[in-house]
Amino acid sequence: MIELGVNIDHVATLRQARRGLVPDVVGAAKVCEIAGAHQITVHLRADRRHIQDADVKALKQTLLVRLNLEMAAVPEIIAIAHDVKPDTVCLVPEKREEITTEGGLDVAGQQDKLAEVVQGMHEKNISVSMFIDPEPRQIEASAKIGADCVELHTGAYANASGEAVEVELQRLWDSAEIIGDTPLRCHAGHGLTVRNLAPVALIPELCEVNIGHDIVARAVFIGLDNAVNEILGVLHDIETKR
Ligand code: PXP
Repeated sequence: MIELGVNIDHVATLRQARRGLVPDVVGAAKVCEIAGAHQITVHLRADRRHIQDADVKALKQTLLVRLNLEMAAVPEIIAIAHDVKPDTVCLVPEKREEITTEGGLDVAGQQDKLAEVVQGMHEKNISVSMFIDPEPRQIEASAKIGADCVELHTGAYANASGEAVEVELQRLWDSAEIIGDTPLRCHAGHGLTVRNLAPVALIPELCEVNIGHDIVARAVFIGLDNAVNEILGVLHDIETKR
């Protein structure tokens, strides 16, 4: 079955709105874990707008499932990753002004620098994923620098309407096929929801999705465990059709 990473950044967004202690990020992560999530994902941003350093450390100590740290490949955060040792890191581009991660990482344009980051993580037994747009040259570059996985940016698919939906979906399918010819594992994430997930989850090479905003948003109405279960239900139903 495709594994589910639940991104709990926006539980922290709500907490940071009052700079207090609630809602408890570790508590939320444990609810997701108990509901059946395979992994907890957090993004430690340079501006610390949601997840804080202490959250990453507390999650690493508490979780029974994998901890996946999304991060920019910058010295400050690399040092934190080396220290905390999450199970995996997902390298993402980061711009201070953006509301959320806008595009994929340009792996092809910075291969030497990123190869060093990958090697440094491997020395700490941390597996490395590259968050990339569904483009062949980014897949090839990720394989060349020794990454373990790529996470295909599904934002363009999620934001598309009308005929563009099929076009963006096809880009994801074509990219996954190319990934299947490399040692890379194929993940997907960004903008996925209980409504738009199924066509992506049918991609045969896909082995992990990371979903955040939709799960936390639906949790307001139906509870976090139910929101996680809804997504797991979609992934489970799809399994028989893949
Ligand atoms: N994957 C990556 C690499 C991301 O940067 C994000 C957003 O932080 C997600 C998945 C989750 O996206 P969303 O919150 O839209 O589900």
